[in-house]
Amino acid sequence: MVQVLNLSLIFFCVILQINAQEVNVCKKFNYYFFKSLYSRGCYYNPDQNTEVPDIVTRLGYPIESYNVTTEDNYILTVFRLPQPGAKPIFLQHGIALSAICFVDTLESSLAFVLYDAGYDVWIGNFRGNRYSNKHVTLDPNTEEYWNFSFHEMGKFDLKAQLGLVYNETGKKIYYVGYSMGTTASYIYNILHPEDASEKLDIIVSLAPIVYMKNIPSSAALLAPLWPLIEPLVTNLSHGVILQRNNVSINLMKTLCLGNPIEMFTCQALIRSLFGYDNDQLNPETLPVTMVQNNDAISTKTISHYVQFILFGKFSYFNYGYENNEQIYGNAIPPLYNISSLNVPIYLMHGSNDFLSTIKNVENFFEDLPEGTKKNGKYLLPYKKFSHLDFISAKDQKSLLYDPLVNFLKNPIL
Ligand SMILES: *[C@@H]1O[C@H](CO)[C@@H](O)[C@H](O)[C@H]1NC(C)=O
Ligand SMILES: *[C@@H]1O[C@H](CO)[C@@H](O)[C@H](O)[C@H]1NC(C)=O
Ligand SMILES: *[C@@H]1O[C@H](CO)[C@@H](O)[C@H](O)[C@H]1NC(C)=O
Ligand SMILES: *[C@@H]1O[C@H](CO)[C@@H](O)[C@H](O)[C@H]1NC(C)=O
Ligand SMILES: *[C@@H]1O[C@H](CO)[C@@H](O)[C@H](O)[C@H]1NC(C)=O
Ligand SMILES: *[C@@H]1O[C@H](CO)[C@@H](O)[C@H](O)[C@H]1NC(C)=O
Repeated sequence: MVQVLNLSLIFFCVILQINAQEVNVCKKFNYYFFKSLYSRGCYYNPDQNTEVPDIVTRLGYPIESYNVTTEDNYILTVFRLPQPGAKPIFLQHGIALSAICFVDTLESSLAFVLYDAGYDVWIGNFRGNRYSNKHVTLDPNTEEYWNFSFHEMGKFDLKAQLGLVYNETGKKIYYVGYSMGTTASYIYNILHPEDASEKLDIIVSLAPIVYMKNIPSSAALLAPLWPLIEPLVTNLSHGVILQRNNVSINLMKTLCLGNPIEMFTCQALIRSLFGYDNDQLNPETLPVTMVQNNDAISTKTISHYVQFILFGKFSYFNYGYENNEQIYGNAIPPLYNISSLNVPIYLMHGSNDFLSTIKNVENFFEDLPEGTKKNGKYLLPYKKFSHLDFISAKDQKSLLYDPLVNFLKNPIL
């Protein structure tokens, strides 16, 4: 009898144990204290541990992958949720991200919302992220490989990826960029005005980043320190940080996702960079987005944004006086020429975004050439909308994606 009891106890514990491991998301934050007890409110979401094609397939959408090689020989992967014949729309992620940020928030993910609205959805991947980590000749474990910022992403990656989409569909494209995906889109348009006006109908910018004057983000406190430590970091890391590996992912799961106290503590730190909006934290997808929405950043990308923060200018990379002289023929790097933008631009921004502040967005909008700003810009009415809310807010569909879909029905081109 005792043995039977013992056995069933062990059996019960094993079941609980399996359950505790399997269950990784809950519909409410307080359920996370007792994950294995809430059989209805908690469940296992495989999206936390799989890749873009798995997630898209699991949610019942079609998926295709394409490879494209840039003029400087980086090999990029572009995903597509195909609807042949429909209007192509191209999504481009921000810093420390990959295409996965547009599919990892269940049905309300931007890629699915746009597919359901009838678009042929393409999703880009900038060089260096987990889907675009190959090069024809360079070894990704070298500083030469990581010698790029969003300048090269605009100049080379967008040119190649948009060329692919245009060639495959034969149609002009709606471009939707988020954060660094906006910075790079302006650089692409400025450096390749003919190519851009041939291929793009409109550039929609979610949380545009161009001017970074007086941002309230903790990034502004850290920015002056970066030039002091950058050479050491670059030397020790061959120019890349936050590359994905199982150790850091497991550490994050343990430190930031174990229970609501850990969750909110980690969010408080992270959100000091991006803007606080606890009301829009989504308990059901936070463990997925926290694990999936991070990816490699080249130290040069950080340096370039730090220059934006320190000098408040939309400027080419500053290599220091002597090198600038060699590279640009001038001790000061040139500014990107905003006047040569020639594709219509629609800015969508939030009031509580610590990186894309209202003032900076307004200044950028004022500087845009008349022909590009016929559609005006859109400040989201929800007052707490912050930088991360664009890809992970609980109500992102009603607050942002529905207005976006609505806008795209009839933009002024
Ligand atoms: C793209 O490249 C990757 C890595 O080189 C390869 O595994 C994959 O099969 C390629 N995909 C296509 C569609 O060619
Ligand atoms: C990175 O690129 C710059 C500009 O093209 C060049 O001056 C520098 O030597 C390169 N550094 C490395 C490590 O490749
Ligand atoms: C698209 O087609 C043009 C013209 O055939 C070609 O020059 C270009 O390399 C193609 N681009 C891509 C990315 O396939
Ligand atoms: C880092 O610095 C050391 C000492 O100056 C040098 O020998 C080494 O080549 C550097 N490593 C890289 C990756 O640049
Ligand atoms: C992480 O672990 C999984 C299995 O748990 C393995 O398939 C994967 O290759 C590992 N990833 C890395 C980057 O080591
Ligand atoms: C910027 O672009 C505009 C429009 O193409 C052009 O008229 C102007 O000369 C350019 N400015 C600079 C400094 O190159």
